Amino acid sequence: MTLQLRVYVPPHPLIQHGLAIVRNTATPVALFRTAAIELGRWLTYEATRDWLPTQEGIIQTPLENCPATMLDTEVPVALIPILRAGLTLSEGAGSVLSLASVYHLGIVRNEETLEPSFYLNKLPEQFDPQTRVLIADPMLATGGTMMAAMAEIVKRGADPANIRIISIVAAPPALQKLSEAYPSLNIYTAAIDEHLNDRGYIVPGLGDAGDRAFGT
Ligand code: URA
Repeated sequence: MTLQLRVYVPPHPLIQHGLAIVRNTATPVALFRTAAIELGRWLTYEATRDWLPTQEGIIQTPLENCPATMLDTEVPVALIPILRAGLTLSEGAGSVLSLASVYHLGIVRNEETLEPSFYLNKLPEQFDPQTRVLIADPMLATGGTMMAAMAEIVKRGADPANIRIISIVAAPPALQKLSEAYPSLNIYTAAIDEHLNDRGYIVPGLGDAGDRAFGT
């Protein structure tokens, strides 16, 4: 069976409210950052629903033994923020995935060619293919940055079927590229916007997510 890329836009009021705050150009930096962190938390909650492995056991309550479902801590979980803007989403994600190892990837896109280049790569040499990998990047625009990140992560042994991406706004060019290259990938985003402008910004989008999160 061929799995297709799945893009989920969770219809959750907290996600929609957070999206309205980060889209609004009048939102001050501190509130933008708080809302982006919250979006990271809610999107991760949605993304991990059927993805984190569990195990059954018996625990003892103060009254008697009882069966319990717990996280299978033998399966590694990796959280990968794409710097800079992914730091906000990742902070929220980390509050849900408290046992995750965090591997930072710094990727900048050339504003003229829109081509990505790495300035920081803290990925491990090798991932266990069982590792659940969550990548946090608020803007999936041309897809260049995420394709570069995916290539680097998959090259180190991660299985695309175990990788999930959280973003705030995704656009068709990125979704198209990712779906062609990684049909088993799952993406959780607060919105899918229509198009990119000639500078590669998502429209209506929210502007430059890094600048807005860090006041630069
Ligand atoms: N990166 C951003 O921060 N915003 C966009 O609209 C596109 C890429």
